[in-house]
Amino acid sequence: MNIEVLINEKELDKRIEELALQIAKDYEGEEVIFCSVLKGAIFFTVDLMKHYKGDCEINFVRVSSYQGENSTGTITLKIPLKKEDIENKNIILVEDIVDTGRTFKYLVEYVKEFNPKSVKTCVLLDKKARRVVEFEPDYTAFPIDDLFVVGYGLDYDEKLRNLPFVGYVKK
Ligand code: IMP
Ligand code: MG
Repeated sequence: MNIEVLINEKELDKRIEELALQIAKDYEGEEVIFCSVLKGAIFFTVDLMKHYKGDCEINFVRVSSYQGENSTGTITLKIPLKKEDIENKNIILVEDIVDTGRTFKYLVEYVKEFNPKSVKTCVLLDKKARRVVEFEPDYTAFPIDDLFVVGYGLDYDEKLRNLPFVGYVKK
């Protein structure tokens, strides 16, 4: 597979630091729970938290919708959240990428059922051109073109998550 660098390590770090500062400013005096959407968002969540100066905690949720390069359209909840982890808390759902928008839309509705104090969404990459459902993330690190991307947590059939940069598959 031929992989080209799309966003290098330096660019990732710089932008993620900026985003962490912006979020900390927005939540000044409040506690936030970064809820990382497994598995793809793990690298992004960790780096975001390392740059985050405010009061925060981490949690995880896992859903799946993809096989290979294609979304199956149906979302399966694989690791759920607990009511006590959400109720009256400021939840920030952290995702690797928004594509059709189905995953985030599903997760926001899911979190809302447990009465959070607030719920916002934060994403590393946004492939706006591919949207099927209406969805706009609150925080976006990088808008990108319609490319299949891998690395920095993003996979192709579970592989290539370990690349330290975001790359795209050259056809
Ligand atoms: P959505 O529900 O269509 O917005 O899809 C979101 C999920 O699809 C992401 O969390 C990723 O796991 C996966 N995904 C979408 N595009 C890509 C890609 O280019 N590379 C790897 N995974 C992707
Ligand atoms: Mg994902």
